[in-house]
Amino acid sequence: MEVTYKVHRKDPENGGESSYSTYQVELPEDATVLDGLQKIRDEQDDTLAFRASCCQGSCGECAVRINYKAQFTCTTRIGDVTKKAPEILLDPVRNIPVIKDLVFDMDRFTWNKMAAMKPWMEPDDEFAPTENLVPESEMADVRKTMSCHACSLCDEGCAVLPVNFDFLGPAAMVKGYRFVMDPRETGAKMEARMKVVEQPQGLWDCVHCYEADGKCPRGLTPSSKIMEIRDVAFKEGIKHEKVGRHHASFINSVKQTGWLDERKLVMETEGMTNVTGLMKLLPTAVRALRRGKMPGRHEKRPGADQIKRILEKAEDSK
Ligand code: SF4
Ligand code: FES
Repeated sequence: MEVTYKVHRKDPENGGESSYSTYQVELPEDATVLDGLQKIRDEQDDTLAFRASCCQGSCGECAVRINYKAQFTCTTRIGDVTKKAPEILLDPVRNIPVIKDLVFDMDRFTWNKMAAMKPWMEPDDEFAPTENLVPESEMADVRKTMSCHACSLCDEGCAVLPVNFDFLGPAAMVKGYRFVMDPRETGAKMEARMKVVEQPQGLWDCVHCYEADGKCPRGLTPSSKIMEIRDVAFKEGIKHEKVGRHHASFINSVKQTGWLDERKLVMETEGMTNVTGLMKLLPTAVRALRRGKMPGRHEKRPGADQIKRILEKAEDSK
């Protein structure tokens, strides 16, 4: 069958403007989108840049957007893509600086962020005289996350990265999860690990939109993994000072009055002795006051004592 490829082009040596090139390619229905790209490069245009390595859905190198959906070119069949539209539109994965055509900057997008997770294990007893054996039941989930092929398709769906590229993103967090959940790091090593995942632009910057969960070709549910790391952080004691203060203020307010005192929450999160931080909040507070958005008196609600008991029970059951 004859297929039309419309491919994103960008040449940094030639102005770096984005445009599209269109190619007609003869391909069997069971060929992959990658087969078509290779045919174009071999027979029509040897300047076309794209990435691929294993050609069997293992390495994650060939991730692009195929008709607006992020997928691997090496596992996507022509027959499937052309069912809905006769043309195949190829764009680079979203949220990433593009180097050329469909090739994006993996260092800035993935590798640097994964490296920030310190992706190596530091067992409690580094020089144990025997092997550090772990029951399979404790490793099953960790082992599953080890199958992540660092394709960053989960980052493609992330709602934070378009507004804050420095956010470490779900792919790096899945790497963090692999070590947080490994039972061989405990005590001081575990504490150090939690500091790594809680670093600025890390764990607490996720806005839990859950978009990443549907993007992972391995079904690793990266957003849910972030939430599981947060559960561990609550159990271990939050290491990120500002988040810790926010959490404590929230709980104290609900325990004392049965509902959230938002004014206190903002100030206590900033730190009551952090004069510079509190001064920075002043303009926002004045604006909120003028617009009638500043909550008034914070009275204790009827049933507050019952709410307090529920909260304490939940804390005891952790
Ligand atoms: S978690 Fe899934 S989508 Fe994200 S990098 Fe790993 S394999 Fe790719
Ligand atoms: S080339 Fe490895 S996943 Fe496509």
